[in-house]
Amino acid sequence: MPAKIPRRTTLVGMAATFSTLAAKPVYAQGMGTVLITGASRGIGFEFAKRYAETGWTVIATARDPAMAEPLKALAKAHKNIRIEKLDVSDVKAVDALAEKLKGTAIDVLINNAGISGGSQNQKVGAIKYEVFDDVMHTNVLGPIKMAEAFAPHVAASTQKKIISISSTEGSLAGISARPDVNSIFYRASKSALNMAMINMAKALKDKGIIVIMLSPGLVQTDFVGDLRLPIMISAEQSVAMTMPIIARVTMDDTGKYFRHTGDLAAW
Ligand SMILES: NC(=O)c1ccc[n+]([C@@H]2O[C@H](COP(=O)([O-])OP(=O)(O)OC[C@H]3O[C@@H](n4cnc5c(N)ncnc54)[C@H](OP(=O)(O)O)[C@@H]3O)[C@@H](O)[C@H]2O)c1
Repeated sequence: MPAKIPRRTTLVGMAATFSTLAAKPVYAQGMGTVLITGASRGIGFEFAKRYAETGWTVIATARDPAMAEPLKALAKAHKNIRIEKLDVSDVKAVDALAEKLKGTAIDVLINNAGISGGSQNQKVGAIKYEVFDDVMHTNVLGPIKMAEAFAPHVAASTQKKIISISSTEGSLAGISARPDVNSIFYRASKSALNMAMINMAKALKDKGIIVIMLSPGLVQTDFVGDLRLPIMISAEQSVAMTMPIIARVTMDDTGKYFRHTGDLAAW
């Protein structure tokens, strides 16, 4: 016979639980460990900041931690941030970090690191072909290798999510509406990333791992340089919109591509 729980105590306990949940933002519920690539600045830095402030354990990776002053200051203020050196285009370095973190459960892996390659290098008629490898290695090979190397860490976690930051620039459905053709490598890289992650979603489904792509919106970071448009949002706004999406996706969503607004992205 199970012990009889006094009705009054149970109700009070439930009320307390509900009020605690209601007070917390959705991404704070079910906190865990998040690993973010490219956390030295921009959107990646903002993910690290907000997850840390919420109480998650954050593994923030940077190509050159010594130079990542804002990230170092953030880690000083938040003891739940651990900085690791990582260039995602370096397959051996990804393997080495996966080995170093062996046994660490990672609830959410965010493949955020990315480069544009510079639109000036991608103008048809004067394409700088040496830039191609950098863009593809960083934006496509990096996320594929991260997902493969860290699948055991993610599979060992509670939430089991791999998120790749894509871009509507990689959308086949939207290309006719774009006036310029200056980002030929970058656009190709994000289309390739989407296809790679849809395949990854299929490959990792048996392990219970949810794989999605997220478009962060047009975000005012170093990435967009001096470009200023009314539709632009800050990295804070972008992350505040995408974290709840990450929190609520389930296995029913694996392989899907979301906009920062929460709608599915046509691509
Ligand atoms: N900003 C936008 O409007 C926008 C729109 C759509 C998609 N995105 C995507 O969002 C992601 C983040 O962009 P962002 O706007 O935050 O750009 P950002 O401010 O330029 O930051 C890019 C980050 O990626 C890191 N990184 C670059 N190459 C790397 C490599 N090989 N290994 C590890 N880290 C590397 C950078 O590190 P370092 O400091 O060492 O250079 C930096 O931390 C990218 O995938 C980008 O394609 C951005």
